[in-house]
Amino acid sequence: MAEERPLTRVTCTAPVNIAVIKYWGKRDEELVLPINSSLSVTLHQDQLKTTTTVAISRDFKEDRLWLNGKEDDIGHPRLQSCLREIRRLARKRRSAGNGSSTNDNAPPLSLAYKVHIASENNFPTAAGLASSAAGYACLVYTLAKLYDVDGELSEVARQGSGSACRSMFGGFVQWIMGEQADGKDSIAQQVAPETHWPELRVLILVVSAEKKPVGSTAGMQTAVKTSPLLKHRAEVVVPERMAQMIEHIQKRNFEAFGELTMKDSSQFHATCLDTFPPIFYLNDTSKQVIALVHRFNAHYGKTKVAYTFDAGPNAVLFTLEDTVEELVEVVKRSFPPKNNGDQFLKGLPVKGATLPEEVLSAVVTDPVPGAIRYLLLTKAGPGPMLVEDANCHLLGADGLPQSSSSS
Ligand code: DP6
Repeated sequence: MAEERPLTRVTCTAPVNIAVIKYWGKRDEELVLPINSSLSVTLHQDQLKTTTTVAISRDFKEDRLWLNGKEDDIGHPRLQSCLREIRRLARKRRSAGNGSSTNDNAPPLSLAYKVHIASENNFPTAAGLASSAAGYACLVYTLAKLYDVDGELSEVARQGSGSACRSMFGGFVQWIMGEQADGKDSIAQQVAPETHWPELRVLILVVSAEKKPVGSTAGMQTAVKTSPLLKHRAEVVVPERMAQMIEHIQKRNFEAFGELTMKDSSQFHATCLDTFPPIFYLNDTSKQVIALVHRFNAHYGKTKVAYTFDAGPNAVLFTLEDTVEELVEVVKRSFPPKNNGDQFLKGLPVKGATLPEEVLSAVVTDPVPGAIRYLLLTKAGPGPMLVEDANCHLLGADGLPQSSSSS
């Protein structure tokens, strides 16, 4: 009976992803249907993750939401879409007669009960690292566990934020654009698991940006309306590139993977410049990083490092394990930290490297002190996960945020 379970809590975590073939532009704003397919690498949750607890109780008066410990508006239409869709799937599953709970033998939770949701990131939201993808993926995954729903969850996460559908899987993930008007075929699929390419490393350069750029949702709306390059990209360029990128990943061909990643990032930013009025996401530091990567690759006569940039100035670099130490040293020398020297490099540990003189003179040409706030080294990682440890709930037994936040 419901009285025996006054409060049920479920906590899950979900990853951030970085696209190597970019999603930019919707054909349906409400359902979040894209004008082209896209492909991303899911980043490891040891470095970047969102944690979400959902609590449900018949005593709750209303649905409520806390983001990073602060109460927020639960009425956001995208969030409401996710809640509605998961509750619809739960209803459907129950009416089909297979709604037994996986948690225990308890009766299914009432769909009429209200929920409390708390979500936090293990990285600063202000750093401009795509937090909406991890956030919505985590919300949908946690709600699905709570209501004991499975099936096509990427379709629900997509309605929170397009890129969130790709965070529903680990490793290398494609979001197939689909054709149907109802979006049922616009789903994410794993191309290869995170174990497929263990040498691949991801170095995030968080730049010291002064102003917040135009948001993705608004930016892509104007781009769809005004950029002929974006139309050409979606219709002609991306379909070819998706097939190529999948092959490069399957073959673990770093040079081809890296080159295509850089080209696709630049074409996305070219569509931003082709938007009217134009949008600039790259700043001077971003451009200095691009030049640095090309000098590094030119020095070695092959693509050993690749960059990609989303809707902001931060750079995400891909490389292989054997190049990490040297790359980190080159980046440190090129963007010497102003004050937080010892906290400049976060994430996976890196041994210090001594740079050969010829690398220094060829690659580290004109250092810009303070332009980069910090570096974060990570790798590909798994998809969303259930947290079994009851001590990790972000909401207490009273359904309110635990006072000691772990961030
Ligand atoms: C540049 O998924 O944030 O990061 O669907 O409007 O929420 P909405 O946009 P969002 O856009 C991400 C754009 C991108 C490229 C990518 O991740 O593919």
